[in-house]
Amino acid sequence: MMKPEIKAFVFDAYGTLFDVHSVMEKCNEYFPEKGEKISLSWRKKQIEYFFIRQLTGNYKPFHIITRDALTYAVKEQGESLSKQQEDSLMESYNLLTPYDEVTSVLEQLEGKKRVVFSNGSHQMLDPLIEQASLASLFSDVLSVDETKQYKPTPASYNIVLNKLNVRREEVLFMSSNGWDISGAKSFGFNTAWINRNGLPVEELDAAPDKIYHDLRGILEWLE
Ligand code: LAC
Repeated sequence: MMKPEIKAFVFDAYGTLFDVHSVMEKCNEYFPEKGEKISLSWRKKQIEYFFIRQLTGNYKPFHIITRDALTYAVKEQGESLSKQQEDSLMESYNLLTPYDEVTSVLEQLEGKKRVVFSNGSHQMLDPLIEQASLASLFSDVLSVDETKQYKPTPASYNIVLNKLNVRREEVLFMSSNGWDISGAKSFGFNTAWINRNGLPVEELDAAPDKIYHDLRGILEWLE
């Protein structure tokens, strides 16, 4: 495939730039031996909740959904959370670890638009990016909260075009989430699926243009 000239490198946040399971340790501290299950279910439910809320027209911002998903994940294990534990786990979601290659890849994209585009609300995204010392490496941080339309709706991806003043074919969108890549590809973005876990491509009729194990692969779009 001939690669088009990319003007905006647009990154999903959770799972793509940041390891959502860096909360596992904290979950284990509160619920010994159940940390992994709770962390996996927390993320699974978080995704399920915004899909359901989008489909049923009951939007709530991501920081609320994430808290609700945590409550469910803990109850599912037959446990309960004190208010202090809940706040502290939510706080750890703002302290997620960025993947190793993130800083160096962003540095190499200097001069291009480098953008975060997430279902996360600014209330979560801004402190998260700040604590990881990534704020100066992004030209924009965009949240679906501005239109209250979650990815993977076309209306959500349209925020990127409106805010950045670029055309679809000038965007390279990166996500580790198969549903996100499928949505972005159907919308008309160039897509790179960051397949960190060696999963099969989703059966959703919109295969990614490129698949990389981590973000370093996207640097070939600079050539
Ligand atoms: C994001 C999530 C949901 O949009 O991965 O950042």
